Amino acid sequence: MRKSILQFMKKKGVLINAILVLILALVFLAHSYDKPQKEGIKEYAGSESCAVCHEEHYQGWKTTLHSKMEQEAIKEGPNKNILGDFSSKDFHLPFTLEDVDMLVGSRFKQRYAKKIGDDYYMLPAQWNVETKEWVTYQPKNDWWAREGVYPKEWNKRPTSKLCEGCHTTGFNTKTKIPAERNITCESCHGPGSLHVEEEGKGHIINPANLNHERGNMICFQCHMSGRPPKGEFENYAWPVGYKPEEDLKKYWVYAKPTGENAYEMWADGYAHKNRVQGNTFIQSKMYRKGLRCFTCHDTHGSRYTSFTVKSGENNSLCLPCHGDNALYAVFKNDLSEHTHHELNNLGSRCIECHMPKTGKNAMKWDARDHSFTFISPLATIRNGTPNGCNNCHKDKSPEWALKEVIEWKFE
Ligand code: HEC
Ligand code: HEC
Ligand code: HEC
Ligand code: HEC
Ligand code: HEC
Ligand code: HEC
Ligand code: HEC
Ligand code: HEC
Repeated sequence: MRKSILQFMKKKGVLINAILVLILALVFLAHSYDKPQKEGIKEYAGSESCAVCHEEHYQGWKTTLHSKMEQEAIKEGPNKNILGDFSSKDFHLPFTLEDVDMLVGSRFKQRYAKKIGDDYYMLPAQWNVETKEWVTYQPKNDWWAREGVYPKEWNKRPTSKLCEGCHTTGFNTKTKIPAERNITCESCHGPGSLHVEEEGKGHIINPANLNHERGNMICFQCHMSGRPPKGEFENYAWPVGYKPEEDLKKYWVYAKPTGENAYEMWADGYAHKNRVQGNTFIQSKMYRKGLRCFTCHDTHGSRYTSFTVKSGENNSLCLPCHGDNALYAVFKNDLSEHTHHELNNLGSRCIECHMPKTGKNAMKWDARDHSFTFISPLATIRNGTPNGCNNCHKDKSPEWALKEVIEWKFE
């Protein structure tokens, strides 16, 4: 009796094994059938692979700061990219050039990273480019510093948690290695290996084809102050896991104006620091009417400051929509009807009144507001927010400017 059960089990075993093998084979087949579609599209191909077919986009992008955010230090020669003066005896500079393993930034300020173990850490001084001076770098007001999520010692604040998601592409939180350094094609177009394999047939995101909310989110992933929702990644300072086309709000809680002067925004919601373009732009009528960051900026390069599609300095960026005869014209014959300054006067430049410098990037105030309103001198009187008029008329008071503006209105 026992024996026959054993024999039966043995025979059954063969059967079970056969079934198992069959199932495994099916799983394997299904898996390999899935592979090119599901896994392929998730892989990063690297910007150089895009260059093969999109040479112009590649060369243009190379001229933008997105391609130069994190650089290996070149300490000598014509390509020298270290801006800070390391011969300085300034007490703000407590480290030497030998400590520097990577450079971060170059336009407003440059910071310096040291590699310790498998992570980078920001050394505690920054070089301000415009004033050519060293200042202490020790964040106190970011939420993660304010709330003591990270201790204040510089070598206990890993860049993998606090910076890299916004300065690299496809950063892997486990290996702490990015798919590619800098803000590359695939930060905005999504992983593109399948598009490359299929020689350009589909499988890539064109932000212009998304609705304006999702399209803008591609830029907001880095240009919007905020913090992650509670959960696995709550101690990261960037939206871990977000990919172009997705809903950023699942990964990121936007900072909003608080009604008081705060680190990110002035009480009235205007930019108080850099990289709050998203926070300020979503408050604007232009955002609600469907404009995108890339209506004004060409991320594949342009010859204007901050790669704007046309010059912001001679108004040609704004006039196609706001010039005489345009849909949202602000004057009939002569721009000075609107600006009350002579045509060629700096005071007739749209951006100086509608995107004044109100925020601190390296210094007070060098970052432009992106809420596209007119910041009234009244905001200065109430909250201290810088306004365009007094940014130029430094010798005059905000009360003076307010009076002038009110007079214009009732002229
Ligand atoms: C083998 C050549 C080839 C490579 C490599 C390649 N592309 Fe393309 N790509 C094309 C072609 C061809 C088109 C145009 C397809 C069309 O007009 O329908 C295209 C279209 C696009 C579009 C527009 C898609 C749309 O829906 O409007 C984007 C964005 C794009 N590529 C980005 C990339 C990125 C990013 C990479 C690198 C990861 C890359 N491409 C690599 C050939 C290539
Ligand atoms: C949520 C995304 C995000 C995080 C996190 C982030 N940055 Fe940035 N960073 C940006 C963006 C976007 C800009 C450019 C914005 C601007 O000019 O207003 C920028 C600009 C800078 C600049 C100025 C570059 C220049 O050319 O002047 C430096 C330096 C910098 N970041 C360092 C850091 C360091 C160090 C950390 C980590 C402690 C960090 N950032 C974390 C998004 C981020
Ligand atoms: C910072 C974001 C960003 C980066 C980086 C970026 N792109 Fe784009 N790309 C966009 C946006 C936004 C559009 C849609 C622009 C539009 O049509 O107004 C676009 C459009 C395109 C298109 C469609 C054709 C066109 O010009 O409208 C191609 C092709 C393309 N990008 C290729 C590239 C390649 C190749 C790289 C890297 C060398 C790259 N992009 C880097 C944001 C980016
Ligand atoms: C992955 C993060 C990331 C994404 C996505 C991103 N940016 Fe940026 N952006 C940065 C960082 C970091 C800098 C600072 C670069 C530097 O100064 O070296 C920057 C700088 C800029 C600048 C200033 C360049 C200059 O010359 O002063 C503009 C304009 C800009 N970004 C626009 C955009 C737009 C528009 C989009 C969306 C189409 C976008 N960015 C998407 C991270 C990002
Ligand atoms: C692609 C078209 C377009 C461009 C380019 C454009 N705008 Fe606008 N702008 C609009 C639209 C649409 C509105 C909303 C008009 C309305 O609904 O009354 C608007 C509204 C405004 C407002 C009024 C906002 C308010 O709250 O009342 C200001 C200020 C403004 N734009 C400034 C600018 C400046 C400065 C530039 C250039 C840097 C610019 N715009 C470029 C389309 C554009
Ligand atoms: C000297 C400052 C100044 C300059 C320069 C300036 N504006 Fe204005 N703008 C104002 C003021 C003041 C208002 C009225 C704000 C209010 O009523 O709250 C205004 C209002 C607007 C509005 C809202 C609609 C309207 O007509 O009231 C738009 C749009 C606008 N400006 C666009 C522009 C554009 C585009 C340029 C450049 C061609 C420009 N502005 C240059 C000061 C300026
Ligand atoms: C209506 C046009 C317009 C829109 C929309 C717009 N920008 Fe800008 N942006 C400008 C102009 C103009 C400048 C200043 C260029 C100059 O200095 O000549 C600028 C400057 C910048 C800078 C450089 C930093 C600074 O303080 O000057 C960054 C970064 C930037 N924009 C990012 C963005 C992002 C991200 C978005 C979307 C959230 C966006 N912009 C939407 C027109 C625009
Ligand atoms: C980008 C710089 C700039 C901005 C912004 C600006 N102005 Fe002017 N403004 C000038 C210049 C330059 C003159 C020419 C006369 C001079 O040098 O004082 C002038 C002249 C004037 C004058 C006549 C001469 C005087 O000093 O009495 C008044 C009034 C005036 N501005 C008020 C304003 C008001 C109000 C605002 C804000 C709505 C404003 N300006 C914004 C640069 C600017």
